[in-house]
Amino acid sequence: MQHVKIARIFADPQKHIGKNVEVKGWVRTRRGNKQVQFVALNDGSSINNLQIVFDMSKFTDDEMKQITTGASIRVTGSLVESMGKGQVCEVQAAEFEVYGTADPLTYPLQKKGHTLEFLREKAHLRPRTNTFGAVLRVRSALAFAIHKFFNEKGFFYLHTPLITASDCEGAGAMFQVTTLPLNNLPKTEDGQVDYSQDFFGKPTALTVSGQLEGELGATALGEIYTFGPTFRAENSNTPRHLSEFWMIEPEMAFYDINDNMALAEEFIKYCISYALDHCKDDIAFLAKMYDEDLENRLRFVVNSDFVRLTYTEGVKILEESGHKFEFPVYWGADLQSEHERFLVEEHFKKPVILTDYPKEIKAFYMKQNEDGKTVRAMDVLFPKIGEIIGGSEREADFDKLNKRIEELNIPMKDMWWYLDTRRFGSVPHSGFGLGFERLVLFVTGMTNIRDVIPFPRTPKNAEF
Ligand code: 4AD
Ligand code: MG
Repeated sequence: MQHVKIARIFADPQKHIGKNVEVKGWVRTRRGNKQVQFVALNDGSSINNLQIVFDMSKFTDDEMKQITTGASIRVTGSLVESMGKGQVCEVQAAEFEVYGTADPLTYPLQKKGHTLEFLREKAHLRPRTNTFGAVLRVRSALAFAIHKFFNEKGFFYLHTPLITASDCEGAGAMFQVTTLPLNNLPKTEDGQVDYSQDFFGKPTALTVSGQLEGELGATALGEIYTFGPTFRAENSNTPRHLSEFWMIEPEMAFYDINDNMALAEEFIKYCISYALDHCKDDIAFLAKMYDEDLENRLRFVVNSDFVRLTYTEGVKILEESGHKFEFPVYWGADLQSEHERFLVEEHFKKPVILTDYPKEIKAFYMKQNEDGKTVRAMDVLFPKIGEIIGGSEREADFDKLNKRIEELNIPMKDMWWYLDTRRFGSVPHSGFGLGFERLVLFVTGMTNIRDVIPFPRTPKNAEF
């Protein structure tokens, strides 16, 4: 008999009813009496459990004893229409096998209703809960939607390196990569660390962004995207920051800032719609458990036109709002998530794309505006999240870019290859980065970014 996944059965029960099936999974609950027992079986393919009915005239109490919450079993039997409420169909067990027991006294997920904090401590087992099953399936669907979107548009998927010798965002918070013995560092004559003896012959680190290499791809293939892990060694302990997070970074030749904004809006709406269409049960479950308004909010974003305004206009609205913010707001200030969320949730009540930020608070590669003060940056701001996308039109002019690199004291020995894109066949181009976990946060309605990645890395936390 062929093993069938529970999601396949629920997708088309009529196809399987009346047939013998073999199902395999983990026991969620067992209840019943001397005549009949019911097991709720989950195999991870769906939020929905399959009910297995054990006619106790065919099974002994001794056999059943091992079927406890968390145990893994294989069951064969016929799939029948269910008489009971709450399920369309159920399996009448003919025969079963226990793969692995789970001692009720020590299995950490024995009870229902654990807090998310408790489950963070049990990150190795939490995928077996309803909540994390749902989140991880939505996460997987979103990753697929991202590749589908770009593939349909003719973008190429470019793999950019994780180990790099350059610091894209200039924030200086990188994880160093070295094979030098830390307890006995080789030194040069003047007492500095001798990196010529390091693995790559120079200092290297984990990348904070694939953008700079992405630009090399875009100025050759036209339209590319990267989708991979990025690393930031900032000591930020917030519900929106991870030390290791995944980022999607499209980069497009011949796009100006307006083309860039249009793509960002279309892209993010596509991903949300895909999840609404393909993850109905999981999203409905998460809505029921955590956030009644979730589906409405997702639909609302898909159906609204994002507001577009400049940073200068945004700051004016914030200053004139009379609202008391924890962090002061003035022209030149880096906006905090409370400011971003005020614009989105209180003022416009829609997603906002803020453009033309002061050049001092943005990265060196952004296209400089005529005013000499601002750059052609764009941040997409979302309800509940704040910044979900950051991007810009890039400075395509060699002299302007070179000057900015010098002003910021970025070592030219690290940047010569990047400047070559402006030296040879330079083109107007743009791109942006979507924080994947922030998208998953938004779509699942979870409130802590640690709960939307299987194994979160945050300061002082790298278990598993
Ligand atoms: O705004 P950021 O720093 O932009 C870049 O890295 C550009 N190189 C992107 C580009 O233009 N190609 O990061 C982009 C997005 C943010 O908007 C946010 O969603 C997410 O990445 N992000 C983080 N997500 C989780 N944890 C962190 N520590 C994050 N830092 C940024
Ligand atoms: Mg940013």
